Amino acid sequence: MLILGIESSCDETSVAVVRDGAEVLSNIVLSQADIHAKYGGVVPEIASRAHTEAIYSLCEQALATPDLRSPPSRKGAEASGDKIMKIDAVAATYCPGLIGALLVGVNFGKALAYKLNAPFIPVNHIKAHVAAAYLLPPSQKGVPAGRGLKPPFLAFIASGGHTSIMQIDSYTDFKILGMTRDDAAGEAFDKTARAMGLDYPGGALIEKYADLNIEKTDIKIPFAKVEGSELDFSFSGVKTYIINYINTRRQKNGELPETEKYNIAAQFTDNIILSITSRIKRALEITGNKKLVCAGGVMANSHIKNALKDLCSRLNIELYIPDKKYCGDNAAMVAAQGFYEFQAGNTGGLSQNAFASADWFSQN
Ligand code: KG4
Ligand code: ZN
Repeated sequence: MLILGIESSCDETSVAVVRDGAEVLSNIVLSQADIHAKYGGVVPEIASRAHTEAIYSLCEQALATPDLRSPPSRKGAEASGDKIMKIDAVAATYCPGLIGALLVGVNFGKALAYKLNAPFIPVNHIKAHVAAAYLLPPSQKGVPAGRGLKPPFLAFIASGGHTSIMQIDSYTDFKILGMTRDDAAGEAFDKTARAMGLDYPGGALIEKYADLNIEKTDIKIPFAKVEGSELDFSFSGVKTYIINYINTRRQKNGELPETEKYNIAAQFTDNIILSITSRIKRALEITGNKKLVCAGGVMANSHIKNALKDLCSRLNIELYIPDKKYCGDNAAMVAAQGFYEFQAGNTGGLSQNAFASADWFSQN
């Protein structure tokens, strides 16, 4: 089954074509990061307009893939030489995210589905981040879908807007076990980077700065505990501690030398790693899962990835982290989750709306 996926929940516009929820035929991603960088964060109205301008052309590029040759299962498709007619269903992110941005993808997707007389599948963005783990790396064709990964498993998603630990009992049943009480992990990276004078989005730059650090001089960042929960996260205190540290340091000694920024980046990363690995370890103990999926934009960070690999090898847990290109926002993961939502009968109609917050308790 060929699904055309659409992602437009924040500042990446993306369109992909994925076969049977696993094989990525195309995945075109256009980041708006440069447009938003001068404002120090995503401007929702500008994001919506940029999605509107980009989406049609990205859709054409995604369909230009040479490999749309699977026998079409949809009536009427055989006769058409038009590649779009080979698409069996259209999936788009409908929650959570920036409402104007989401509406661009949902409405484009519904219009396309209507033209094709094909089902429209609304997809929860966080579920899609998890489904990125089912996508086959292009070099490994012939390996079973998702490298054999099947629910049940524990999932940890860390992105610019979300940080949560979830129990995944089936491809479509997700139970939240812990989530951030304030900032998301990616948000903490971005705000700390801004305090250090780095560009938006700052996560990848903090990783580079941490790589360059030679010696860690202790700056005593406190470990953030959350009252009444072993599995919830809090990142705003860490971010504020670093911002205050930098401001005090600047007032005393002027502009921070680059080497000091490297040290801050390294210690901030260590603190985030401790916060993440301690909760995941506890969640594995509580649930007894033997498989762990970690995904979302923050999982592009090699320090965090390595710490999770160490943890999982010590605990004898199978760890699945999607390829870096599928960790950040992309439409291939939306098409992958769309495949399983379709199998479960979770399609939407032409009146399907978008929602800014996650809609865990309805069908999706
Ligand atoms: O999943 P994503 O692309 O978009 C959202 O759904 O939010 O995640 C974007 C977030 C940003 O906060 C970005 O700074 C962070 O992921 N990020 C990183 C790295 N690359 C991206 N954080 C830490 N280290 C990285 N290498
Ligand atoms: Zn995301």
